[in-house]
Order: sequence, then structure tokens, then C-alpha cells
Amino acid sequence: METAWKAGLEDVIAARSGICQVDGERGKLYYRGYEIAELAGTLSFEDVTALLWHGEVPSAAESAAFAARLEAARGLPPAVGDLLRALPRDAHPLDALRTAVSLAATHDPDVRSNEPEANLRKAFRLMTLVPETVAAWQRIRTGRTPVTAPGAASHAAYFLELLEGRAPSPDVARVLDLVLTLHADHELNASTFATRVGVATLTDLHAAIVAAVATLKGPRHGGANEDVLAMLLEIGEPARAESYVESRLGARAGLSKHERGDPRVRVPGFGHRVYKVDDARARVLRGMAKSMAEATGRQKLFEVAEQVYDAMRARTSLPVNVDFFSAVVYDALGIPPDFCTSIFAVGRVAGWCAHALEQYADNRLIRPRADYIGAAPRPLVDQRRRTETSMASSSKS
Ligand SMILES: CC(C)(COP(=O)(O)OP(=O)(O)OC[C@H]1O[C@@H](n2cnc3c(N)ncnc32)[C@H](O)[C@@H]1OP(=O)(O)O)[C@@H](O)C(=O)NCCC(=O)NCCS
Repeated sequence: METAWKAGLEDVIAARSGICQVDGERGKLYYRGYEIAELAGTLSFEDVTALLWHGEVPSAAESAAFAARLEAARGLPPAVGDLLRALPRDAHPLDALRTAVSLAATHDPDVRSNEPEANLRKAFRLMTLVPETVAAWQRIRTGRTPVTAPGAASHAAYFLELLEGRAPSPDVARVLDLVLTLHADHELNASTFATRVGVATLTDLHAAIVAAVATLKGPRHGGANEDVLAMLLEIGEPARAESYVESRLGARAGLSKHERGDPRVRVPGFGHRVYKVDDARARVLRGMAKSMAEATGRQKLFEVAEQVYDAMRARTSLPVNVDFFSAVVYDALGIPPDFCTSIFAVGRVAGWCAHALEQYADNRLIRPRADYIGAAPRPLVDQRRRTETSMASSSKS
């Protein structure tokens, strides 16, 4: 029996999967054997999703059939719209999303079936539910009415039209398509692992995705995305970046290990459990961030990001991660900080569903062990007597 404990399950193999491979030493990422930099921009996000779910690049006919199923799943369930309108306007977008997925389960006709075709139907519905909810919540919380976009030509364009109320330019839709592909899957990241743990109990797909959204929210995971944009906006001027990084890293001196875990004394967008060097997604996003910032007149924020990047490079060996430059891209798309992680969810739901389908197809309950470090077995009666004696003596005094 394997009894060694690894903090945070570092490097522990917890599943066999044919979906995604991360090469942390070389900074490479593969979906079903294809390198991410080759896929992004070559295949549409819909085709990438089909690849993740079914294992092969779809043929033209398969691609059209997949896109048609996605389109057929469009339409925010009215109950979810009502729910969003009832939420406090300052609810975090991921809390709104998590609650919406949970409610959608109760209205889903297949919620009680884990048959492969039922799970596939639910996966298509979740693929559209996530962007629809994210966009509807953004409009509702900013005092606008949700809209529909029945004619949108692609998944990315659909989301952008739901968000803005008008069809995006082909260039902007293409940028989002790429971003979604780059975020679509990443092996056993925390939210995907949460999905697989849920699925392995044979709960329903919506329930597992609720666990995934809940897990994505944390600042160690997807939540870092919004922290990056908030940080870059706070820095504001490229000339302030170096001293900002210096003081944030400097604040760590003299802190305990536990205190150094506080996200406020880390620089979001840097560090990774698996990557030892900058990964391919970050390289693609850096190029996109530069051209998007130039196209939208937001160069200053990109310059701030570059200065933070250089300052981190000079002081640490932490690799930059996917959340760093994607925040600059989101800013150029007009997306506010607390909305960044929702876009992550719009892409990652493809990977969550891929892993869920794989887990359902070949399942065993995921039930690891704990290395028990508590008190040795001891009789309760002695403890009671001690408590009673000490209570009696303290009441006399
Ligand atoms: C991603 C992350 C959670 C990986 O964590 P991990 O593998 O568990 O690594 P640890 O948290 O054990 O960190 C190892 C050391 O590097 C430091 N470190 C890691 N990321 C850091 C960061 N972004 N800024 C400053 N120090 C960092 C830790 O404080 C720790 O140092 P210590 O032992 O002196 O306290 C971590 O790098 C992090 O918190 N990054 C910032 C948040 C982020 O960008 N998340 C998105 C991930 S895609």
C-alpha cells in the first residue's frame, strides 16, 4: 500500500487520462497529442471541444454536427434568468454561475440519467449554460436586460453578443475564440480534479460542474486572473511596477510559512505546481496581449504587465502562468477584473465535461487515505472524569 503523504498531492498520479498532457519541464501543453500553440487559431473552439470530448479532430461533417448540437442547446432557461434577477447585485460572478448551474440541474430533463448519451446532451447544455449565465449576470448586475443572440456564427461570437447586445467584429470574436481554446483544458488542475471526484461518486454532471465552479473561484486557481488585472490597474504606471513588485515580495521577509501563503504577499499570475518554465499558453497570450493593447489604445496596461514580468524575472525563478497576460487581453476586451474568472469558466467547461465523460466511461470511486496525525486511541471515560474533576475544583474556588 502507498502510504507516503505528499502535501497538496504534488506529482501524485491520481487518474489515467487520454485528454491532456502537460510537460512542465519544457512548458508544453498538448490536447489529445496536438500542441496547444498549433491548435489555437487553427481549429475553432468548438472543434477543440469536439477533439477533447471525442478524441479526434472532427471531420467537416462531424464539425458541422457538433456545432449544430451546440446551437440547438442555446437559450438561457427562464428559471435561471429569474434566479439571476433575484440575486444581490454585488454577488460575485462565479457565485452567480455556481448557483445557476445548481438550479439548472433541477430543470434538466436528463438529471437522473447517467447514460452516455444523456451525459453528452447535458454536456452540450452546460457548454451553452455557462456563457449564457455569465453574460446575463454581467448585464443584470450593470442594470441591463439580458439579450438573446440566435444568429451568432460561433461560440465565441455568441458569448460576446450576449454580453454586449451586438455582434462582435470578426477580429474580436477570433481573439476570444483563441482565449477559450487556451483555457479549455489543463489536465488535473484543481477544478477538473473536483469534477472527477464528483463524477466518480456517480453523481450527476451538473453537480460535478457545481463543484468545479466552486473550486475555480479560489485565488490559488482561476481567481488569480482577476487578482492580476486588479494588480495591474492598481500599479497604473509602468514606472511604478518595479517598486510595487519589490515591496510585495519584500513584505514576505520575516513572515512565517503560513503567512507567506496569503495571496496578498504573492504576485498573482506567477508560479505553477507543474510548470518550471513559462508555458506555451502564456507565450501565445503575451503576443495577443501586445497586439490587443495596441489595437485598443490600452498599451499602458500592457507596459505595466511587461515591467512586472521583467521585475519578477529578475527576482524569482517563478514561471509566468496563463492568468497573467490573459488579464491584459481581457482588459482590452473591456472586461472588468471581477469578471475575468468567468471567462476562464466559459473555456474550461469544455475540459470539465471532457474529463467527466472520460471518468463516467471508466469509473472507480476516488477515495484516497489521510495520514492520521491526531491523538492515539484513548478511552473517553478518563477524559470525562478529568473534566468533571476540574469543573468541581473550579466551582469550589
Ligand atoms: C500557482 C500556485 C498556487 C502553485 O503553488 P504550489 O505549487 O503549491 O507552490 P507553493 O504555494 O508551495 O509555493 C512555493 C514557494 O514559492 C512561493 N511562491 C509561489 N508562487 C508565488 C507567487 N506568485 N508570488 C510570490 N511567491 C510565490 C511560495 O510562497 C513558496 O515559497 P515559500 O516556501 O518561501 O513560502 C502558486 O504559485 C501561487 O499561489 N501563485 C499565485 C496565484 C496564481 O497565479 N494562481 C494561478 C495558477 S494557474
